Amino acid sequence: MKYTHHNNELNIKHIGKEVYLKGWAAKVRNLGGLIFIDLRDRFGITQLLVKPGNAFYETALKVRNEFVLEAKGIVIERESKNSTIPTGEIEVEVTVLSILSIAENPPIIIANDTDALEDTRLKYRYLDLRRPVMQNFMIKRHEITQAIRSVLVEEGFYELETPILGKSTPEGARDYLVPSRLYPGTFYALPQSPQIYKQLFMVAGFEKYFQIARCFRDEDLRADRQPEFTQVDIEASFVDMDDVQRIVENVLVKTFKKILNVDVQAPFLKMSFQEAMEKYGNDKPDMRFEMLINDYTTYFKSIDLPLFHGKNQVRGIILEQGVVTRKRFDQLTEIIKKNHGDALASIKYSEGQYTGSIVKYLNETELKGLNLKEGNTLFLVPGAFENVSSSLSALRIELANEFNLISENVYKFLWVTEWPLLEYSEEEGRFYAKHHPFTAPVDASILKNDPKNAMAKAYDVVLNGYEIGGGSIRIHSQEVQKLMFDTLGLTKKDIEERFGFFVDALKYGTPPHGGLALGLDRVVMLMTNTQNIKDVVAFPKTQSAKDTMMQAPSPVDNTQLEELQIKVGK
Ligand code: AMO
Repeated sequence: MKYTHHNNELNIKHIGKEVYLKGWAAKVRNLGGLIFIDLRDRFGITQLLVKPGNAFYETALKVRNEFVLEAKGIVIERESKNSTIPTGEIEVEVTVLSILSIAENPPIIIANDTDALEDTRLKYRYLDLRRPVMQNFMIKRHEITQAIRSVLVEEGFYELETPILGKSTPEGARDYLVPSRLYPGTFYALPQSPQIYKQLFMVAGFEKYFQIARCFRDEDLRADRQPEFTQVDIEASFVDMDDVQRIVENVLVKTFKKILNVDVQAPFLKMSFQEAMEKYGNDKPDMRFEMLINDYTTYFKSIDLPLFHGKNQVRGIILEQGVVTRKRFDQLTEIIKKNHGDALASIKYSEGQYTGSIVKYLNETELKGLNLKEGNTLFLVPGAFENVSSSLSALRIELANEFNLISENVYKFLWVTEWPLLEYSEEEGRFYAKHHPFTAPVDASILKNDPKNAMAKAYDVVLNGYEIGGGSIRIHSQEVQKLMFDTLGLTKKDIEERFGFFVDALKYGTPPHGGLALGLDRVVMLMTNTQNIKDVVAFPKTQSAKDTMMQAPSPVDNTQLEELQIKVGK
C-alpha cells in the first residue's frame, strides 16, 4: 500500500476523501471504546479514529506507542478541534489498519519534551532522533548544508574530496592516529583539517575548491566542540583577504536569507584582534550587547588599595542596572578565578550612596570621578592583561545572560582581523603558529628579523560570540614557508620528514591563494538556536569523547593487534 499523504497534509478541504497513511503510533487513547491513534511521520501527526464494530478494531486494540502502522480511511471533521497542529480540524476514520512493526516500550519518551538523561539519549540515539525537535535539527542541518553548497557551486567552486587517511596536519590539537598493517610501526593521521590538500589543489590549478569536510581533533571538549566535526572548507587562487571575506559573506548572507529569511548586513564589521581583546576580553566578541571593558589602571595608580597592589592592570565593566547580592558577588568572584582572574572588586552607585567591596578605600572625589550613573555597578579585576581579559570576558557574558541584555534572533557577524602570526610560549621558549604554519605574514622581513611582532594575513569570522570560521592568505613562496618552519623551531630534518612534499610542491609554480573554513556544526547550532553542538550532530560523542551507543572506543581482537604488531600496555 503506497501512502497518499504525509501526516501534516490533511485538512478540512480533504473531507470525504479516501487516504492511505503510514507512520508511528505517537499516542494511543481509548475513550469509551473509541480508539484514537496519533500517527506520526517526519512531517507531522494525523489522528486516526477506530470505532467499535470496525473490522480492524481488534488490531487497533493491540497498537502501542511506537508501533509502525499503515492505515486506509476516510477524512472526517473532528468534533473537538486542535488548533496547534495543521491537521487539527480533521481525523481519519480507519477502514483498513495493519501493524507493520511492533515496538517495545521505548526507554525515552518520543516527544519534544523529554526528561531523559543525556547518557540515555545518546545510548538510544536512534530513538532520540525520532523526537520531532531532533528531526528538525537534522533537517535544518541538511537544508543549511545544501544552501551553502549551492552558493559555492553557483560561484564556480568545485566540490573536491581529500583523503581521511593522511599525514598529520598541524592545527594545534592532538592527532587521531591509525596504525598501518602493511607498514608496522607506522601510522596515518586523521586530518585535523584538509589544509595541506586544499593548498595542493591550488598548486594543481583548480583555482576554486570547497569541501564539506570531516575533521578530527583530539582535544578537550566543550559545549561547542566535538572530536569529530565538519568544516565547509574553502580555498581560492589569486585572491586577497578582502576577496575571501566577500566569498564567505556571500555564502552566509544567502544561507541566512534562504533558511531563516533573515537579512544579514554585509560587509560585516571588522575589528582587530587587539581591540577585541581590549574591549571584549576575547577573540570572538559577542556584539549583541555593549558592556565594554574599560581600562582603570591609571585611575587607580594614585589610590592606595591593597587588592590592586603590584598588579599590572586594573580593568572593569559596568553593569548599568541590576541587583547583585553578596552571595551572587561571591559566585561571580569564583567565575573570575576559574577564568584565571586574580580577584573581583565592585562599586555600586544608587540613590546618592556608594556601596561595594572597595568603597572604603576611595574618597568622595575618587568615587565621583568614576562617573557612575544611577544604578550602575562597576566590576573591577586586577592582574596581567591576558588574565584580566579572559576573566572579564566570562563575567561580561555571565552578567549579560543573567540580566537579559542579549536580544534573541539577532545575528551579529564580525571579522576579527590583524592577528599576530605567532604566539610565544615562555615556558617552552618557542614560537607557535597562532593559526597554522601556512598562514602568510603581512611582511616576511619582520618574520625574519622580529618574529614576535610579525602580523598575519588571517581573519576569523565570529557570530554572536562564537568563532564560526577561520582562514588566511597562505604562504606561496618556498623560501617564506621554510622561514616559517624555521621560526617555529623545526629542524631541517623535521621539515624534510613532515613537510618535504609540501615545500617541494611550492617550487613548481604556486599561485597566490587563500581560504577559510566554516565550522558547519557551529553554524547550524546558531541557526537553530541551540547552545549544544550535540543537538546538531546526528551521532555525537559525549563530553568525554565516547560513543555510548556503539561503545567506542573499545578493545579489539588480539588477532587485529597482532596483524598491526601492536602490544597494549597495562
Ligand atoms: P580552524 O582550526 O579555525 O581553521 O577551524 C575552522 C572552524 O572549524 C570549527 N571548529 C570546530 N567545530 C567543532 N568542534 C571542533 N573541535 C572544532 N574545531 C574547529 C570552528 C573554526 O572556526 N585549516 C584551517 C582553515 C583555513 O585556514 O582555511 C582551520 O581548520 O568554527
